[in-house]
Amino acid sequence: MPQSSDALVIFGATGDLCYRKIYPALYHLVEHARLDAPVVGVARAGWTLEQFAARVRESLAKFVPQASEEAVRRLLALVRYVDGDYRERTTFQGLRQALGAAVRPLHYLAIPPSMFPVVVTMLGASGCAAGARVVVEKPFGRDLASALELNRTLHEVFEESAIFRIDHYLGKEPVQNLLYFRFANSFLEPVWNRNYVASVEITMAERIGVAGRGRFYEEAGAIRDVIQNHLLEIVALLAMEPPVRFARDALRDEKVKVFRAIRPLDPQGLVRGQFSGYRQEPGVAPDSRVETFAAARLEIDSWRWGGVPFYVRAGKYLPVTATEVVVDLRAPPANVFGGLAPGQPNYLRFRLGPDVAIALGAHAKQPGPGMQGREVELFVSQQQGDAMDAYERLIGDALIGDAVLFAREDEVEAAWAVVDPVLRAQTPVEQYALGSWGPKEAERIILEGPCGWHNPGEDAHSWTRACGQGAAP
Ligand code: BG6
Repeated sequence: MPQSSDALVIFGATGDLCYRKIYPALYHLVEHARLDAPVVGVARAGWTLEQFAARVRESLAKFVPQASEEAVRRLLALVRYVDGDYRERTTFQGLRQALGAAVRPLHYLAIPPSMFPVVVTMLGASGCAAGARVVVEKPFGRDLASALELNRTLHEVFEESAIFRIDHYLGKEPVQNLLYFRFANSFLEPVWNRNYVASVEITMAERIGVAGRGRFYEEAGAIRDVIQNHLLEIVALLAMEPPVRFARDALRDEKVKVFRAIRPLDPQGLVRGQFSGYRQEPGVAPDSRVETFAAARLEIDSWRWGGVPFYVRAGKYLPVTATEVVVDLRAPPANVFGGLAPGQPNYLRFRLGPDVAIALGAHAKQPGPGMQGREVELFVSQQQGDAMDAYERLIGDALIGDAVLFAREDEVEAAWAVVDPVLRAQTPVEQYALGSWGPKEAERIILEGPCGWHNPGEDAHSWTRACGQGAAP
């Protein structure tokens, strides 16, 4: 049984990720009695402990409006602060002091990827890495070569079992539900393969733009920001073989097999888009060719999935914020009643956010004379998308050394290998209007079937696609 960490150190403590996600998660961990160790913020902002504590309070006031004052006080009592440059030894001496008697700290690197090697090396040199674990934020590198390099740097200081590569999608309730639904039921398995599945489609749409993160986005783009990690993780959960148990390596072994079976992306199977006005965003180059939208066709060369296309699409400034998976089944072998329009397949639809739903699209008889059919959805929903926030779940897991929902070294490398060929390919970047479903060129990615992309709606019931499905249940 791994021992719990006895301190939590947060690098990048004055940054936006901490403000929006990490401090609210820490509050909930304290509230749920999963955190009572010192929390040491580290940053180079020239701040005092009082200023840092005020920032934490401000974050909670904004993102946890119902916070109990008693739990807020308990969190603030745990907080310490070290100010300094990550390149200076004195910063890490200060950190060692602030850690006091702690011997198993968890270091969270909520800092730009370019700073990971510096901080990791300094943690090693200062003795702060002894007995420690480290959480590394995404994007994990910029491409396959830099991910390999980063893994090498991390391994100079930390063993693989002490490294927690975070992808917050894996901490999301509906994403775990996908895994649960697949492997806690037996009725799916007989159809969950190339004999019955015609195609799989995943759309991650965001109504927001780059929201002041232009500088970051210029370094990333949609492929590095969400496709290499969030969307490929969802592909892996959909396509993997059953793990022998829900345990760290059993699960990760199966995901790695999927990534290795995905054919490296062909530039022909990719459309990149950029929303109009992106080049005027602060921090963005006036001639930027960075994509804010990407649509791709993936092929998985495995016994189960050979020949079944997996379409993935993600973009900023789309009409809604929603992530959905649609698994289309093949048509019945004979059209017994006639009138069953081709291209109206049975399907499974998983809504992964902001709310959670699972729907099974089927044909039922229209009441009345004759044998006419109508589209119905058998629908299960759960309004609350995140019973436990993803960051609360994942930081809590890292504190107790549970890595099942974190990415292993070979997993991130295999995921980079999938997108690596298109990162340098200089494929065209098509402009698209704000609030549209991306450039029209993206339609060509979906070659088979008359349905085109399925477009998630505002709520879990309302979705559309060219072949007319998405009617209310
Ligand atoms: C982050 C990306 O990893 O995920 C952002 O960097 C994106 O660009 C965000 O907006 C989406 O996360 P969520 O939890 O809001 O779906």
